[in-house]
Amino acid sequence: MRVLRSIYQGLDDRYQLTPLIEKNVTRKWVPRTLGWSACFGGLALLVFLIQVFTGILLLIYYKPDPGRAWDSVTFIKSNVPMGWLIQRVHVVGANVMIALVLMHMARIAYFKIYRSPRELHWVSGVVLLSLTVFLAFTGYLLPWTNLSYWGASVGTEIPGAIPFVGEHVVTWARRGPGISGETLGFFFAMHIWVLPAGLVIFMAMHFAMIRRTGISRPL
Ligand code: HEM
Repeated sequence: MRVLRSIYQGLDDRYQLTPLIEKNVTRKWVPRTLGWSACFGGLALLVFLIQVFTGILLLIYYKPDPGRAWDSVTFIKSNVPMGWLIQRVHVVGANVMIALVLMHMARIAYFKIYRSPRELHWVSGVVLLSLTVFLAFTGYLLPWTNLSYWGASVGTEIPGAIPFVGEHVVTWARRGPGISGETLGFFFAMHIWVLPAGLVIFMAMHFAMIRRTGISRPL
């Protein structure tokens, strides 16, 4: 503890961290009348961070290969110390994150917070919701079970209803005519890199906008 404190003191002397942390975190004022429903956005962020942490741990053993994916998940659940817990937290976390984002969105809609000057907060939020749903959808295929196979099969069929380009979108999403090892590789890349990176970028924009306009309701 003393070592950490002296490291912090050294950094604080050089870069004046304390006033920065006080202004933005520990002494940041929010409206007294905000209410408990204002915590959903922050909780969604917390669950996202838990998902990143547990996802990195799962990656140590997971194999994105049709012949080994199911075995690797079974190995995590039954042989890796605490593997079952990490895997469960990741699965439950995905559902909880979607629920929290929807509750956060419902609050914004109910209190009409999306109105000027916060229209773009809402637009960036819609992108965040879509990215969250795609993140859960791509993750669902990874254990390569019957359920995940048919889930991906039905899910990727949905854009087929788009006029003219629908069929191309389906083939693009599946990386071929049906669900295969190619789909697994594609979903894996989306799940661990592209979609989380998109979420981080749009969250940064979302938070920057909130900082600029301030949270709704006068201080
Ligand atoms: C990963 C998804 C999301 C995260 C992590 C997130 C996070 C946050 C956080 C921490 C806040 C500030 C505190 C609060 O009001 O709750 C906030 C505010 C806001 N969010 Fe989100 N959000 C997400 C998705 C969405 C969605 C889907 C929408 C709407 C479509 C949305 C619209 C807004 C708006 C309009 C505000 C401003 C609230 C105000 O000024 O009182 N967000 N968000």
